Amino acid sequence: MNFVAPNRQAIFSPFHMENYDGYCRWRDNKLANYPKRLEDLIVEIGDPRKLTKAEFMALRERCRKANMAIYVSNTGIDPDPEIPLSVGRWFGVGRLNNNWLADETGLTSLKVAKEGIRRHYIPYTNRAINWHTDGYYNSADKQIQSLLLHVVQRAAQGGENALLDHEIVYILLREMNPDFISALMRPGVLTIPARIDEEKVARKEQSGPVFTITPYGDLHMRYTIRVNNVIWSDEPLIQEALASLARILETENVYKFQGLLEPGMGLVSNNVLHDRAAFTDDDSRQRHYYRARYFDRLAGTGVLDQDP
Ligand SMILES: [Fe+2]
Repeated sequence: MNFVAPNRQAIFSPFHMENYDGYCRWRDNKLANYPKRLEDLIVEIGDPRKLTKAEFMALRERCRKANMAIYVSNTGIDPDPEIPLSVGRWFGVGRLNNNWLADETGLTSLKVAKEGIRRHYIPYTNRAINWHTDGYYNSADKQIQSLLLHVVQRAAQGGENALLDHEIVYILLREMNPDFISALMRPGVLTIPARIDEEKVARKEQSGPVFTITPYGDLHMRYTIRVNNVIWSDEPLIQEALASLARILETENVYKFQGLLEPGMGLVSNNVLHDRAAFTDDDSRQRHYYRARYFDRLAGTGVLDQDP
C-alpha cells in the first residue's frame, strides 16, 4: 500500500489545503483554551486496570484537545503489562504494532539493555532521543496512530520527556507559509534507507510524506529530527519547511510540555512529537517504561469527534 495523495481524500478535513474555511474554524477552536502547562494534561486516576467512566472521559477530553493526556495512577512500580493494555482497550485501540523487539504481550519494555541485540538500538540505551514521532521508518500501511507509555520505574537521574502536539506544529507551519504544508505532504519527502542485518534486508527502504490526512480526516505526522541514516528531499521549499519545523522544536514555545514521569504515570497520545533526555540509573532506580504502539487512533478523539 502506498501513501494516498492528500488531494484525493478527506476534502472535508481541516488539514486539507483546499478547505481553508474549515481550517480556520478548526484552528480557532483548537487554540481556544489550549492547555498551557503540563499539569493541564494530567488526570489523577486510581488503578488503570479498573478505570472508571469519569476517569476515562477526563483523559479522552484532553486527548481530544491536545492529542495527549497524562495519568497519575496508584499502581506505583507494579510491572503488570495489563496496566497499559487496559488503558488501550478503553480507547478502542486493538491493533498493536508487535515489532520484532517487543515482549510477548506486544508491549515493548524500554529499559537499558546490557546484552543482546537491543543494546545496539538507542531506545534501549540511556542516551537522549531527539524529537520524533514513533514508527517513522514503518511502511505506509503500518504507520503508528497512537502511542501509550506507562512508567514502571523512573531513572535515578534524568530521563524527562518533552511533548508537542503535531496538530499545533501543523498550525504554526501553515501560518508561516501554507506552501510548507503542501511541500511536507508530498510523497518522497523523507526516505529511511533499508536496514540490513547480517547482509539481509531486514526492513525495506521506506519513503513517504511528513504530513498525511487519514481517511477520517485526521492528521498523521511522520518525522524525526535526526540527521543520520535518513534522507530528506533536497527540494528548496521542503528544506525551508524543515528548517522552520526544526526551529519550532528547538526554541521555547508555549505549546511545548516537558516533565519527568514518575512510577505509575503514563502518557496516552495520538503519537505526538516527543523526545527523551539522557538518564542515569542506579541500583535502586532503573528506568523502565512500557510502550504500546497502535495502528489505530484513540477512539473518539478525531476531528469528527470535536464539539461544534
Ligand atoms: Fe518515541
